[in-house]
Amino acid sequence: MKKLIPAYVRVPVLFALVVMALEYFIDSGDKPAFIKYPMVSVFLFVFLFLQIAIEIVISAIDRVTYAMLTDEQKERLAAAETSFSIKNSKLYKMLTRSKSIEREGEIMMDHDYDGIKELDNVLPPWWVGLFYATIIFGLIYLVRFHIIGDYDQKQEFEMEMAEAKKAVDAYKSTAKDLIDAESVTLLTEGADLAQGKTIFENTCAACHRADGGGSIGPNLTDKYWILGGGIKNVFHTISEGGRDGKGMVAWKATLRPNEIQRVASYVLSLQGTNPADAKEPEGEIWVDENAEATDADAGETTDAVEESEQTEETSDVAEGTPEVAAN
Ligand code: HEC
Repeated sequence: MKKLIPAYVRVPVLFALVVMALEYFIDSGDKPAFIKYPMVSVFLFVFLFLQIAIEIVISAIDRVTYAMLTDEQKERLAAAETSFSIKNSKLYKMLTRSKSIEREGEIMMDHDYDGIKELDNVLPPWWVGLFYATIIFGLIYLVRFHIIGDYDQKQEFEMEMAEAKKAVDAYKSTAKDLIDAESVTLLTEGADLAQGKTIFENTCAACHRADGGGSIGPNLTDKYWILGGGIKNVFHTISEGGRDGKGMVAWKATLRPNEIQRVASYVLSLQGTNPADAKEPEGEIWVDENAEATDADAGETTDAVEESEQTEETSDVAEGTPEVAAN
């Protein structure tokens, strides 16, 4: 028996709809639901199995029923099937209001161009409906954006950028490996510094000495920096390398961002350790402008300076301590 939609379309389409619905309703993070939750796979498998089983049963019943029909019934069925088509459906007629070929004579116009004749069809309702919809849309748009001035393209762009930035920030804060020179923070936990120390001794000590006193590379324990101090600059130097031809390569190819963060934090923890016969200072004293600004805002500049002098003595440098103290 003929069906409107054949089984080889019905089964995959229904199955795909169910898969998409599951994907939509089950929150499975970045993995598809049927991979993250094996039960979903089992469910899908059973569902597909049942779908196919039902199709087989239905077609078997159809065939048996057909075999039981009398010849006259079979003829009528065949006639019904040939007259069945989308063009005969009610919906189609409602949307087009087209005249059937037999009744085209009613709307034939007098024109006759070398035997080519013209029909005076009505505008199809689906088309007229769309046309009115665009007029209504245009009116609402005109009033909303040109008369009331709801928001303009620039505002819309900024809103979207702000939203996207929020999403990126949220993502960065969950993905630990996505640290960059802008978002990096100084680590102070013992475990992180210990890992930083291991990396430093394995990878960096050859040029900077195990105690950071410097040999080929500069002394990392003093307040003088060639490429800038503070966690952000140091992170940037380690990941992107020093000046060309100086010997400090970009480590981002070897070390992962969170490893660079650890080794950078460890390097900064060496500040003021004054190892024996360390290399002469190179570069300039580095002043953390941000820290200075916030301290000045809070009116605590002098306190901060005193504090930083103390911390230098105890050779324990806190993050953001202004290096102005050295002056
Ligand atoms: C092949 C030798 C070599 C190795 C290995 C090396 N560095 Fe360097 N490093 C240098 C040199 C040379 C400079 C100076 C770069 C310049 O002058 O531009 C430098 C500069 C630096 C600076 C900037 C110092 C300043 O005064 O601004 C930091 C921080 C640094 N290295 C950290 C590291 C860390 C961390 C490692 C290990 C991952 C490492 N280095 C491995 C040779 C090395």
